[in-house]
Amino acid sequence: MGTEIFTINNVVKRYGDKEILNIKSLNIKEGKIYTVLGPNGSGKSTLLRILNLLDRPSAGEISFLGQLLSFEKGLMLEQQRQMVLVTQRTVMFSTTVLANVMYGLKWRKLGRAQAREKAMEALRWVGMEEIAQRHACTLSGGEAQRVALARAIVLRPRVIMLDEPTVSMDPHSVALIEELIRRVNRDLGLTIIIVTHNLFQARRLSDESIFLYEGHLIEQGITEKMFTGAADSRTRQFVAGEIVY
Ligand SMILES: Nc1ncnc2c1ncn2[C@@H]1O[C@H](COP(=O)(O)OP(=O)(O)O)[C@@H](O)[C@H]1O
Ligand SMILES: [Mg+2]
Repeated sequence: MGTEIFTINNVVKRYGDKEILNIKSLNIKEGKIYTVLGPNGSGKSTLLRILNLLDRPSAGEISFLGQLLSFEKGLMLEQQRQMVLVTQRTVMFSTTVLANVMYGLKWRKLGRAQAREKAMEALRWVGMEEIAQRHACTLSGGEAQRVALARAIVLRPRVIMLDEPTVSMDPHSVALIEELIRRVNRDLGLTIIIVTHNLFQARRLSDESIFLYEGHLIEQGITEKMFTGAADSRTRQFVAGEIVY
């Protein structure tokens, strides 16, 4: 309990001379669901990319499980193995659903039969075992996201990050994905960080919310508190839908 997954100290990200992100302090604790909120262009995706070692901060420090995030190859791989980023448009390989889920296990020194078994177990877990042999290109947006989740959990990471996972999905698919995310958190004990534009989703799903505005972390706190009594006026405006994004 209380293990720190991520700790951010004075992280700045610049592209050219434009400062995109400037976060003094942010703590992500094990076992919770976090949402990252903020208008378009506020730096949400950049933050996730940096946490996933897909982009380097221009300055500052990030700890992951008590160790600084590292771009030194060996340590970087070890750290990346404990985190998964699911992006908006999940890239699927042009093969079966099963092969897509097995793909990430390639580097885990498992035999083919064992990898297949683990992948099937993950597909069963997300309720997609019947479509294991279907071609990944034939999936709907909702199905593709569920397969993406299977592909993530099969790796048994400590944290799963999702960048707008339910954007342009029908309400039924959204509900399915939200329920899955809850189960991943509750039953597998994984920490979840979701970037979402959907304020209702943030409120339904997350324990804590993080509000970004123009690259700055304005506020982090218990989600219900952020929606009913945020400290900062910009947060209050945002959750009231008064800042257009
Ligand atoms: N590779 C890049 N080069 C230059 N600017 C970028 C790059 N990636 C993102 N940006 C800029 O950084 C800002 C934050 O982007 P992003 O993190 O995608 O915001 P959000 O996900 O909150 O919409 C935007 O102004 C965007 O144009
Ligand atoms: Mg984004």
